[in-house]
Amino acid sequence: MITISVSDKNLSVQAKEIAQQWGFIFSPFTQDQFFLQLTPQHLQLVQSDKQSPGPIYIDFSSGQITHRRLFGGGRGQTIAKAAGLNKTPPPVILDATAGMGKDAFVFASLGAKVILMERSPISAALLSDALQRAILDEDISDIIKRMSLIYGDARLLGSDKGVELNENPDVIYLDPMFPHRKKSALVKKEMLAFQSLIGDDIDSDELLDVCRKLAKKRVVVKRPIKAPYLDNQKPSLSMNMKKHRFDIYLI
Ligand SMILES: C[S@@+](CC[C@H](N)C(=O)[O-])C[C@H]1O[C@@H](n2cnc3c(N)ncnc32)[C@H](O)[C@@H]1O
Repeated sequence: MITISVSDKNLSVQAKEIAQQWGFIFSPFTQDQFFLQLTPQHLQLVQSDKQSPGPIYIDFSSGQITHRRLFGGGRGQTIAKAAGLNKTPPPVILDATAGMGKDAFVFASLGAKVILMERSPISAALLSDALQRAILDEDISDIIKRMSLIYGDARLLGSDKGVELNENPDVIYLDPMFPHRKKSALVKKEMLAFQSLIGDDIDSDELLDVCRKLAKKRVVVKRPIKAPYLDNQKPSLSMNMKKHRFDIYLI
């Protein structure tokens, strides 16, 4: 089980609450290889080895995410077309493998209402922290208001063991980890560490049938360009990028 520490002891009460919410162990002096740390700026995942890459956290208000929001090509981006965002009204999208929330943020910034689903408590806690902070940023608060987080396993959607959705989404978007990504230049160093902690999504084939039953209009699967189809199911069409493709299953 992962521990959570603080960069400043004044944050201990808040860190204990996070520990309780997500099932982490509060340990202010942890020496674990990986641990979460609450700082005044954000919740972050830290790797304690000397050569380890920097901490991992989600920030919807700056860096590449902001650059893409402002200059990324809007609804002309391939991901937007794949998700049907060039149509009106904007769809309700379930991002059933939310991860760091980057793709979900693109959908929401283009007008979609996005439900983010994540089964890793570490990713879900980082996402929850990022959303709570981002809503205070008036430049993006309208976008963040369109995003909501569900903690759970998307393979169980529609079953009596799974989370119940208030409405069936128009689009379900899937971007499970692909094992080969580990060796590829597509993955940054810090993300490799993250993947080693969260693990490969070896059960991702199970997602497709569940999602095809639930989506009203389409299921979109992001894959590395040379990867086989998810669950070996041929899509209705694919849209290729340089390193990735989007396989689209029309309902
Ligand atoms: C490659 S990451 C997704 C990255 C994301 N598209 C982004 O833009 O940041 C895959 C994520 O899907 C999550 N995941 C995989 N299978 C899942 C499932 N059945 N239910 C919910 N989350 C799942 C993993 O825990 C991991 O965080």
